[in-house]
Amino acid sequence: MTTIENPTAAGSGTAATDKFKGAKFTAETTPERLSAIATEAFAGFSALIQKHAITYPEYRVLKQWLIDVGEGGEWPLLLDVFVEHDIEEVNSRQLEGTKGSIEGPYYVPGAPVLPARCTLPMRDEDRAHPALVLRGQVTDLRSNGLGGAVIELWHADDEGFYSQFAPHLPEWNLRGTVVTDSDGRYEITTIQPAPYQIPTDGPTGQFIEAAGWHPWRPAHLHLRVTFPDKQPIITQLYFAGGEWIDDDVASATKPELLLDPQLDEQGRKVVDYDFKLDPALY
Ligand code: DHB
Ligand code: FE
Repeated sequence: MTTIENPTAAGSGTAATDKFKGAKFTAETTPERLSAIATEAFAGFSALIQKHAITYPEYRVLKQWLIDVGEGGEWPLLLDVFVEHDIEEVNSRQLEGTKGSIEGPYYVPGAPVLPARCTLPMRDEDRAHPALVLRGQVTDLRSNGLGGAVIELWHADDEGFYSQFAPHLPEWNLRGTVVTDSDGRYEITTIQPAPYQIPTDGPTGQFIEAAGWHPWRPAHLHLRVTFPDKQPIITQLYFAGGEWIDDDVASATKPELLLDPQLDEQGRKVVDYDFKLDPALY
């Protein structure tokens, strides 16, 4: 087995924080809406403090921990693991197409553009693992193929590490921007990722351990599927029967998002998955 430099929580957290801050997001929240949400949020804290009679030592530890989360750059990790699944759920209730899931902290736009039949950029070490072939069609809700739809795919390697968030990996390892053919079809060759352990050496990991929880996500592929005037799909695909499917620390699995690849005569794991896009909401 090869020894690798273990990416630290501070390293991946800082990279995720820097990338996020670069985008400068805004939202059109009215003062009334902000006030209502903030009032209920603080009322929730108040009720918790009263119910559990939170002590001063506990309050000070919380304060120190929140400072550590920020200084370690771990807000993207922490929020995407424990909060994003509900944001995704409320924002996709009215949609009929392929189910979404959380984006997570490791999406990077601008991965190399690849044709409809392609292999993701990977190292020789990655290539040594059995190939995973994900193929299918991107369509609208009436099953019309969407030629030229864009599928961005990113995932961890066999050791659970994401390129650009682990210093030992090439920039675009296991990331690609795939353009479907004129019928909306695609066939992407990659490898099956391993289950992902959220970094245990930083404040998020310390908290999970202190609470007696586990830090694992099931093995997953991240996808973002886009087409003009369609609602973008941000989702993840998982592997049926895999570890942590029913106990994801990020609560982001759905039965509709399970793959069950079958071995072909060349020893590749092959699976079909179609993406159905709703009309754009805005
Ligand atoms: C985190 C990592 C992921 O790969 C993911 O899909 C969701 C969350 C995290 O470390 O926070
Ligand atoms: Fe992930």
